[in-house]
Amino acid sequence: MKIRTKITEMLGIDLPIIGAPMFLVSYPDLVVAVSEAGGIGCFPALNYRTVDQLRQGLEEIRSRTKKPIGVNLILHKEHNPFWAKQFEVCLEYKVELIITSLGSPRTIINEAKSVGAKVFCDVTTLRHAQIVAKAGADALIAVCHGAGGHAGTISPYVLIPQLIEETGLPVIAAGAISTGKQMAASLALGAEAVYVGTRLIATPEAQASEEYKQMILESTAEDLIYTAEISGIPANWLKKSVERAKITKPSTIAGNASDTEIEKEYKRWKDIWSAGQGITQIKEIKPAREIVQGMAKEYLEIIEKLPREEKN
Ligand SMILES: Cc1cc2nc3c(=O)[nH]c(=O)nc-3n(C[C@H](O)[C@H](O)[C@H](O)COP(=O)(O)O)c2cc1C
Repeated sequence: MKIRTKITEMLGIDLPIIGAPMFLVSYPDLVVAVSEAGGIGCFPALNYRTVDQLRQGLEEIRSRTKKPIGVNLILHKEHNPFWAKQFEVCLEYKVELIITSLGSPRTIINEAKSVGAKVFCDVTTLRHAQIVAKAGADALIAVCHGAGGHAGTISPYVLIPQLIEETGLPVIAAGAISTGKQMAASLALGAEAVYVGTRLIATPEAQASEEYKQMILESTAEDLIYTAEISGIPANWLKKSVERAKITKPSTIAGNASDTEIEKEYKRWKDIWSAGQGITQIKEIKPAREIVQGMAKEYLEIIEKLPREEKN
């Protein structure tokens, strides 16, 4: 199955589906499964505590798939003091896609492009989109209202067409995309691909606990809380996991004074679980391959079935 868009052309993949990088969730099993299914699997460099471990992770992925993959770099010294070293390792392993979040990609863009890597940037507003467009981003990831992780507040109905019109760059839709119907809506808005996070947590390949996966199956969008209180940046969290951490592990939320910022972040995301509003549509744990290919298949069926002009 192939669905061609500007993004599939740019990355040399069959389906416009990007497995979004997820902290402490996306490791080689998930990355390889998404890339082998025809999308592109991605993971955050910060999932590895040391640069050597990152190298081992890339080594494993490269030995298990020849397909393109992506790595997310958080370009913010406070959140990620190791980004420059992580970037070097990505260049060494010729990672096809670098996804930047929090910060401007200015410092890495020329070097990434010189080795043929594409650079996509997460944005939640037009202002940030204009900054990264000016820096030379190849595409924008519109992180809309309802996304898992650090979500924006703007509806995809508004943000996606606005970013396309104002920047002229290809835009990837992110936030609450769990099904082919939601993918069809995103592409109808002009998106050239979808960025799927939360749906891929409910897979055997995701490195999330069984309890976390079950909570996703049992919850709906109403069970989320959108707050900056947990990690300093507004994000969507499963309310139950926040409540439980407040009682059993208050230090997770407050952070231990002696821990580094990054240590605190590892603790928080381990005990408090993030998810996007697309949990409403997640009813079962399925292999990532079935999710990626099922979503593409449903998308193709849906676009055939959309109401058309009645001709008498
Ligand atoms: C558990 C979890 C961890 C995440 N970690 C990261 C991360 O480390 N870096 C990043 O850029 N985005 C991260 N995100 C955001 C995703 O890459 C993506 O933008 C989001 O999941 C898309 O929305 P959806 O979850 O509704 O599909 C995370 C999301 C979740 C749910």
